[in-house]
Formats: sequence, structure tokens, C-alpha cells
Amino acid sequence: MTGRSSFVVVANRLPVDEVPDEERAGGRRWRRSPGGLVTALHPVLVQRDGTWIGWAGSAGPAPAPFMVDGIRLHPVPLDADEIARYYEGMSNSTIWPLYHDAVEPPIFRRRWAASYREVNARFAEAAAQVAAPNATVWVQDYQLQLVPAMLRQQRPDLRIGFFLHIPFPPIELFMQLPQRAEIMRGLLGADLVGFQQRLAAQNFVRLAHHVLGCPVSGSVIEYEDRRVKAAAFPISIDVGEIDRLADNPLIRTRAEQIRTELGEPKTMILGVDRLDYTKGIEHRLKAFRELLAEGRLTVPETVMVQVATPSRERVEHYQALRVKVEREVGRINGDYGRVGVPAVHYLHQSYSRSELAALYRAADVMMVTPLRDGMNLVAKEYVAARADAGGALVLSEFAGAASELRQAFLCNPHDLDAVKDSLLRAVHVDPDEARKRMSIMQRHLRRNDVAHWARSFLTELGSL
Ligand code: ADP
Ligand code: F6P
Repeated sequence: MTGRSSFVVVANRLPVDEVPDEERAGGRRWRRSPGGLVTALHPVLVQRDGTWIGWAGSAGPAPAPFMVDGIRLHPVPLDADEIARYYEGMSNSTIWPLYHDAVEPPIFRRRWAASYREVNARFAEAAAQVAAPNATVWVQDYQLQLVPAMLRQQRPDLRIGFFLHIPFPPIELFMQLPQRAEIMRGLLGADLVGFQQRLAAQNFVRLAHHVLGCPVSGSVIEYEDRRVKAAAFPISIDVGEIDRLADNPLIRTRAEQIRTELGEPKTMILGVDRLDYTKGIEHRLKAFRELLAEGRLTVPETVMVQVATPSRERVEHYQALRVKVEREVGRINGDYGRVGVPAVHYLHQSYSRSELAALYRAADVMMVTPLRDGMNLVAKEYVAARADAGGALVLSEFAGAASELRQAFLCNPHDLDAVKDSLLRAVHVDPDEARKRMSIMQRHLRRNDVAHWARSFLTELGSL
């Protein structure tokens, strides 16, 4: 495959999964992974002969570039050491916890930072090779914060955008990072730096001044004779996809079946998260346990389903979290379950989009209570899946989604009494009021889906 692209996406992962090929016994093929980001960018990528640069997900040499669904995919290799240092180390044990309010202590290691630098340089190199003259390159997320500057150095002709999917911390936290100046310079290689929240963009502008002494004015930073803009572009979901799923009679039947399998509870409470310490899963379980202990909720009238997708399983903090969550689930079921009716159904598994949609449709109350989250798409998916305007959402004030979904039952996840109170209010909400709340949030999502997000960012980038 030859030819260069006028639009290039650079992300840690390629938007594909390797699956068995039904047409070739023992063969494997690539399939586009589900997800709003690739859905939103697919039309732009196809229209502009676009390329997506990313890691294919396993250690060792990268496969040759290939096409899936009209998108050119350009794999970048990572060896086992780099997975341990760049991905599990610097990305997920230093930056991830630091940017999420240090809810777990970030770990700083010089050899992780060195590997992060090397891998970022490899991604930048790949982008420099693939991008056509004057192309637009859109770099994604915290794993690749050095790429914009590295790429600009090789290809000053390019228009470079960067979007951070996770929170961007306030000065006091960011200043802990030994590589703080390097990361700021890395990001300032972009023309436009996008964040989930206005506050995050403001943190970035302040830091550019504080760390590098850049002159700033509003959302514009002057850096090396260029102007870099920082702004908020809250990401969203593919509302059309969720609509189609929620409308499908098979999924509605599956939702009813789930409730039957749960023993026809009066109230089904649902949590769906990656098993990550930022998601507040333990706090949520504890709130549920206390309500059972106080007799304000009872089993089998109420059951909780907690889906906890396996994630970053070799990272220590994640291993420790799994032990804590599973201990708490065991404790609740030991104290309040009955034969055949556990109080908490805990599922440490990945699910298809349709099974998730059925779970959303079945749940009376969805609990999304992260301690800190850039956006939280699960909250948006739940609202979009309730075309019947049923259900109620309990949402943490510390999820980016809380700035938009104001009609949710908002709570401070650190305040257990507040979580319990919001949960009870959601369980007992008057159905008319619940419908009103859902409809307002749904209207908002229809106008602000992921295609709108991608368009807004790329239009702004194009206008600079
Ligand atoms: P994060 O990006 O931190 O994982 P989000 O809530 O923003 O959190 O996005 C999670 C995405 O992963 C959502 O689109 C959700 O539907 C999907 N997801 C979550 N749990 C599962 C699961 N068990 N199986 C499949 N997909 C899941
Ligand atoms: O929300 C941040 C994020 O990196 C997403 O982009 C990604 O889908 C998710 O977390 C899972 O992370 P990982 O790629 O480390 O498995």
C-alpha cells in the first residue's frame, strides 16, 4: 500500500481487534472495534484517504499496513519492555493516576519516562512518513503527549491537533511531574489542544505561563512564534447506534429476560465500568451495603448488577483494586444474599454492544460514580438507550458528563451519605419526573453526539 494521507489519526491503539476468520479454518482477521471515536472519524478517514496510526495490541514486530472498512491502518510496534515501561508504566502508573486527581499515588520512574519518549518518537516518525504535504494530523490522548512537538519538528507544514480524553490536572498536581516542562512543550507542538472540560483547558493555559513563561491571552498561548489554542470539546457517543440497538425488539426481549433471570426484582441497579480505581466502584458498593444494613433497601426487591470489564491487569493498582472489589462483593453477598438471589451480581467480563444495551434497558437505576473521569461515556450511553424515557441516572459530580447531564441525580462520590441519598432518590423518583429528566438529557445528546464533537474540533483546527 503506497500513497500519503491528507488526514491522519495517531492514537495508542488501532481501532481494530484480531478475531478468528470464519472463512478460513484456523485463520485470523481484523475487525473494526466498536467505539464512538472510530465511528465518528470513519467518514472523514474514508473521504480523505485517511490513515490511522496505532499499536495493534500485542508485543513484537508490527504487521504491515492494511485496510479495514476503507481505513488505512498503520501499525506501530511495541516490544514487551516498552509495553511494561511506556504503556503500563509511564502512561498508566504515572500519568493516568496523576491526571485523575492522584486518587492512587502516581509512581515516577526515569526509565519509564525514557521509554515514553522513545515510543512517542516512533509514533511521530510514522506520522511524518504517512502525512501528505499540508495534511491534518490529529493526535489522541495521554499516551502520546510528546508527539505534537516531535512531529512539528520534522514536518512544520502540517496542521496538528491534539485531544486529551482524560482530565487535565490543576497546577499543584501537574507540577509533581518530573517531565512537566517536556510534556508542556510536547503538547504545545499542536495548533489546537482540545480538552473535555473548560476548566482543564484553563489549567493548561495557566501551566503554559507558569512552567514555560509563555504569554497567554484568553484561550491562546504564544509559543515559539506561533499561537496555540486550548479549548473544550466534550466528547460524546454515537447516539444513532444506541438508538438502533435500543429500538431492536430482540434487545427489548433480552432486557426482559435479564430481569427474569434476576428474579423479577422491583429495582435493578446497574454499574458498568472498566475495573479501574478512578470509577468509584468500591464506594458505590459500600453505599449499597450500608443501605441494605439500614434496611432502607432490601433483597430480593432490589438487586445490583456490577459489570467490571477487565483492564490493565498487569498494573499493580489494578490488581489491588480487583481484590478489594471482590472482597466487598463477597461480603455483601455473604451478609445479604439468599440461596439463588445474590444481592450483587458481579461480572468481570467484556460484553457485546447489544448485551450492554439490553442491560441499560433493563436497569431502573444506573450508577456512574467515578472519583474523577474525563467524560464517562457509559453515563451518556445509558441515557441514550432509554428511548422509553424510563430509568434514572445517579452521576458523580466529578465525571465530565456531569457538566452536560444536569438532570441526573448528581452526587459527590467521596461523600457516602450523599451517594446513598442520591441512590434512594433515584430508586423512589416519581415516574413522571424521571421521564422529564431523561427526555431533557436525551435532547441534549441528540444535538451533541460524537459526530458533532469531531466536526467541531476539526472545523476549529481548520480555521486556525
Ligand atoms: P473509559 O474510557 O475510562 O473506559 P468510558 O465510560 O468513557 O470509560 O467508556 C467506556 C466504554 O467501554 C463505553 O463505550 C462502554 O460501553 C464500553 N464498555 C464498558 N464496559 C464494557 C464491557 N463490560 N464490555 C464491553 N464494553 C464495555
Ligand atoms: O479513557 C481513556 C482510555 O485510554 C480510552 O481511550 C480507552 O478506550 C480506555 O481508556 C481503555 O484503556 P486501554 O487502552 O489502556 O486498555
